[in-house]
Amino acid sequence: MKNYITHDEWCIVENGFHAEYNEITESLMSLGNGRMGQRGNFEEHYSGKSLPGNYVAGVYFPDKTRVGWWKNGYPNYFAKVLNACNWIGIDIKIGEEVLDLNMCEIETFSRVLNMKEGVLERIATVKLAEGRRIKIHSKRFCSMADDESGAISYKLTPLNFSDNVTITPYLDGNIRNRDSNYDESFWNEVHKETGFSQGYLILETKQNPYGVELFQVATGMSFDIKLNGLKTEYQSLPVKIDKYVAGTVKVEVKEGQELSVYKYGVNLSSTNYPKEKLLEECKAYVARIAEEGFDRLLETHIQAWAEKWERNDITIEGNIAAQQGIRFNIFHLGQTYTGEDERLNIGPKGFTGEKYGGSTYWDTEAYCIPFYLSTAEQKVARNLLVYRYKQLDKAIENAEKLGFTDGAALYPMVTMNGEECHNEWEITFEEIHRNGAIAYAIYDYTRYTGDDSYVNDEGLEVLIGISRFWKQRINWSKEKGQYVMLGVTGPNEYENNVNNNWYTNYIACWTLRYTLEIIGKLWTQDSRKLNEIIIRTNFSLNSEMESWKHIVENMHFPYDEKRKVYLQQQGFLDKEILTVDDIAGERPINQNWSWDRILRSCFIKQADVLQGLYFFEDEFQTEEIKRNFEFYEPMTVHESSLSPCVHAILAAKIGLKDKAYEMYVRTARLDLDDYNNDTEDGLHITSMAGTWMSIVKGFAGQRVKDGMLVLNPYVPEQWNSYSFRIGFQGAGLLVSVSKTDVSIQNTSGKSLTILLGNQRLFIDAFGSVRV
Ligand code: BGC
Repeated sequence: MKNYITHDEWCIVENGFHAEYNEITESLMSLGNGRMGQRGNFEEHYSGKSLPGNYVAGVYFPDKTRVGWWKNGYPNYFAKVLNACNWIGIDIKIGEEVLDLNMCEIETFSRVLNMKEGVLERIATVKLAEGRRIKIHSKRFCSMADDESGAISYKLTPLNFSDNVTITPYLDGNIRNRDSNYDESFWNEVHKETGFSQGYLILETKQNPYGVELFQVATGMSFDIKLNGLKTEYQSLPVKIDKYVAGTVKVEVKEGQELSVYKYGVNLSSTNYPKEKLLEECKAYVARIAEEGFDRLLETHIQAWAEKWERNDITIEGNIAAQQGIRFNIFHLGQTYTGEDERLNIGPKGFTGEKYGGSTYWDTEAYCIPFYLSTAEQKVARNLLVYRYKQLDKAIENAEKLGFTDGAALYPMVTMNGEECHNEWEITFEEIHRNGAIAYAIYDYTRYTGDDSYVNDEGLEVLIGISRFWKQRINWSKEKGQYVMLGVTGPNEYENNVNNNWYTNYIACWTLRYTLEIIGKLWTQDSRKLNEIIIRTNFSLNSEMESWKHIVENMHFPYDEKRKVYLQQQGFLDKEILTVDDIAGERPINQNWSWDRILRSCFIKQADVLQGLYFFEDEFQTEEIKRNFEFYEPMTVHESSLSPCVHAILAAKIGLKDKAYEMYVRTARLDLDDYNNDTEDGLHITSMAGTWMSIVKGFAGQRVKDGMLVLNPYVPEQWNSYSFRIGFQGAGLLVSVSKTDVSIQNTSGKSLTILLGNQRLFIDAFGSVRV
């Protein structure tokens, strides 16, 4: 755990430069706008520890699979979000000395990410050779209002000398993914061009044998230089080398004068523009934003953030660390996915690092959808569902590769374009519960929004595909006289190839039940539409439905009568049952134990049975949930970032308030305090949605029952009060919870009736209630 980030309500502050943690800080201070993402790298050359990162949404490369022992069914490639052209770079030479913070003495330093405004700022004074002191002040943002662009203001002041300063703003496409399987570069140059204080570089992804389209990204820059805030005459010397363009400017700067560089960057991708138009569009875009200028761009960007915060802010009184933690999570979720584009999704690291390839996991459906449902327009969550609908054919193909037939769909564990990218057999072939989460998200969306047009128009086809998969994946056990599911990996990846994982069996049966229910509803509401779907999917109404019902009624669920708990899988109790207290000092076990030892142990990586009890809580008694929680939680090591939030929500529900808070703290400051020693790889974006859930679903008990919003709030002992904003079916609420009362303000023109505990409350449009 690290503790070098200063606690502040709105800002992430690094006071004094922590070179040894630089890659961590770069992750924490990443900027993005849903279309592009940029790690918190320095603009000027830095020879110390750093992971340069600039990502363009939807642009990836199919990196050839690398495994020790090939297994039939493995995917050919892993789609990786590409580390793209560096557009922020500005090299600086003072006289003949290169400005490099790794090579000079740093006198003062602060790097601040202002989350309210989405701006990264750095102020430093450094000592160069011969005691020459200089002040650096940089500010930058990835515009939320103009989401294919960003802007930088970079200022230098010589404090005790006068000299020539050489400034080289550049675009550099010589960038590699650190996680490239074969240490290859993924980019080819297509075009480069320079003009007066301008540069353009078009890169294309390298040829691949997998039929994946070649993406082009046109990056453009324009810059402007001022002395003491005034226009100054300068010449810009063009530089063009392989995959690199720049303009070099030499300016004589006197002691105390402020030299400012304003740099505007644009990244346009061929996913949004025809390739032959990219250059022209990029030039027009660059010209437009340069004309607007830094201050005006910044203003509209801050305004866009203000509108976001208006929808999704959470305030916490009485605990700055907690306040900073939750805003940090909301901020990064907001800049990772805006819901503007149904082709995009949410990688577990967003655009803050390379790990997990920027691809889509079940994290989206199980963790992120509730956040966007409550804090963004309805279309945002819907677009996440549409993403999977559009990949249904690929999910069917994916299942066919594994031997399934007749329209059975297996969604990939990891994907960019619908094709499976994961290549560990125990996950690729066996961690199939992901299919259930995709079905669950359809239910979650429909329940929350009350909008059944998605499930009726598109979702049902997805449900039929997934149900067909479950039907074929399950087999009848003569021995048990029940259906069983063999050879799976549950959410707890510290167990592989188990039989009858309770969670997977449960979510499979639930999917069958839900699909049957939707078919039944559509039958009475719109039989014509149902008929169209039946024809499209070649569905056999009688026989398929009958067989699903039979499974639902006869599925095996491992259970221990003595302890009255569901068993994570068959044979779980043969293990030596210990608690995490028994292995204090040996955690994290994934860094200290052999894989074999982990697999044989009872220790659980993340919620498994409890994941099911969280999803389907209405189908269980609270006492039952409590019993299972008390059995499993003590064995859980929470070595997945997705784990603590589910435990926080359940603990809050069953009244274990201390445990709920302990779990909340773990999830909220996971990256800020680098709990798992891996923030340098990037942030845990998908689990950030879990942090939000811990407050809203955990402490505030937000649920939807029979189409009605339910709240059941309490304030954790460690806080004085908190408030959050959520949207529900067209209404907007600001809910404030203190130790003595709850007040709910309707910020919208739509009235709403909610349940507060057991009390029905009518809240008029723009009205408020206090209880
Ligand atoms: C977790 C998975 C998760 C993945 C990406 C793994 O460590 O066990 O459940 O999907 O990370 O976040």
